[in-house]
Amino acid sequence: MENIKAYVQEHKDRFINELIELLKIPSVSADTAYSHDVFETADAVKASLEKAGCDFVEICDTPGYPIVYGEKIIDKSLPTVLVYGHYDVQPPDPMELWTSPPFEPVIKKTEIHPEGAIFARGSCDDKGQMYMHVKALEYMVQSKTLPCNVKFMIEGEEEIGSKSLSWFVERNQEKLKNDVILISDTGMISNQQPSITTGLRGLSYVEVEVTGPNRDLHSGLYGGAVANPINVLAKMIASLHDENNHITIPGFYDNVEELSLEERAEMAKAPFNLDNYKKALDLNDVYGEKGYVTNERNSIRPTLDVNGIWGGYTGEGAKTVISSKAFAKISMRLVPNQDWEQITELFTKHFTSLAPAGVTVKVKPHHGGQGYVTPIDSIGYKAANMAYTETFGVPAIPVRSGGSIPIVALFEKELKSKTILMGFGLDSDAIHSPNEHFGIFNYLKGIETIPLFYKYFVELSK
Ligand code: BES
Ligand code: MN
Ligand code: MN
Repeated sequence: MENIKAYVQEHKDRFINELIELLKIPSVSADTAYSHDVFETADAVKASLEKAGCDFVEICDTPGYPIVYGEKIIDKSLPTVLVYGHYDVQPPDPMELWTSPPFEPVIKKTEIHPEGAIFARGSCDDKGQMYMHVKALEYMVQSKTLPCNVKFMIEGEEEIGSKSLSWFVERNQEKLKNDVILISDTGMISNQQPSITTGLRGLSYVEVEVTGPNRDLHSGLYGGAVANPINVLAKMIASLHDENNHITIPGFYDNVEELSLEERAEMAKAPFNLDNYKKALDLNDVYGEKGYVTNERNSIRPTLDVNGIWGGYTGEGAKTVISSKAFAKISMRLVPNQDWEQITELFTKHFTSLAPAGVTVKVKPHHGGQGYVTPIDSIGYKAANMAYTETFGVPAIPVRSGGSIPIVALFEKELKSKTILMGFGLDSDAIHSPNEHFGIFNYLKGIETIPLFYKYFVELSK
């Protein structure tokens, strides 16, 4: 494997340019206006897998966006690694906050990425991280060091709930058979301190609608005499947390696992600087559930957040009006053992019960998924840690993340295998935000580290 460093150095310009081409296609899965581009991206991913050395690649049609499946089977008696990633991206808006257009990738230096970072929607989440695996395969094929079988499953609906992937996985268990699932769609602590994600939160995402009068009204003629849906919605939402920032939905915490003091002390060992955290976000203080610190609030504790709220007049100037309707999109991040469907039901029941006379309330579930925790004594975890240790010079730290990849719990249920989350992004890479970027260092380090995972996984499997 000494050659991997040299191979990356020799080919890095091409690796970067190939990723830039992929990032130019705006594969926004949430907005049907980009539908053609999402399909085109699937074709581009297929071509890249063929070029990298897969023996067989196909576009698998689904009720939604296609799944790109590829494989290189060298010996059926050897282990099989299944690589998962997604080629769809989040919508780029608000457009005006980007310093360069989201689908015209450029390399810029930042304080955290002095070697430069590629700025584009999807650069880190997840095209850049997915493409590291394609280039790692290219290296292993070229250098004849691929030590086992590999399968790729790259989807186009991760950012909208992976509906078609669940459909696909349920129907293709034999085809997807594997010994370990490898995903780079998470982050690490810093470029000096790698970490392996050992937990993901679950998710329940709902939309609520509060209706008052049957039409918008003059706020002078009717104000004070009828319920204002926006006032009511604001009050209902405010009541979902108490003065300690605990969530007030009855039964919400019933299955939440309380970590022991030892486990929490272990978590507190991960490097974290509250002042830097505040500074990076221009905050005068942090905020959250009483009794927990920041790194617990955003990983081992469940949350409820309004993601968007609208209704009434939001245009220029002032319009005196009582809106007929008010809306909000609400997400609840869940921890392992909380069942997302049950939480969605508890939310619906409670939220509807909060409605005062004078309004009606509707709750529409969007999507969700279960959380995930993985042990650190598995072969997969050990192999990943050995790989990071070799390329970064220090061992990786296990970290539970606040983000969600709902499909991971489904993989365990349907395919009976464990997932290793080998992320190379940083929290500061602005995924889902304007100016998303992915460090060149991180991209190339990923390509360097992945073949070592294969090597150690196969060695430890013997
Ligand atoms: N890659 C992210 C999830 C992530 C990022 C996990 C960083 C851990 C660290 C993924 O693409 C994502 O955004 N997931 C969504 C959930 C999905 C159902 C829309 C999320 O977490 O909001
Ligand atoms: Mn992602
Ligand atoms: Mn995402």
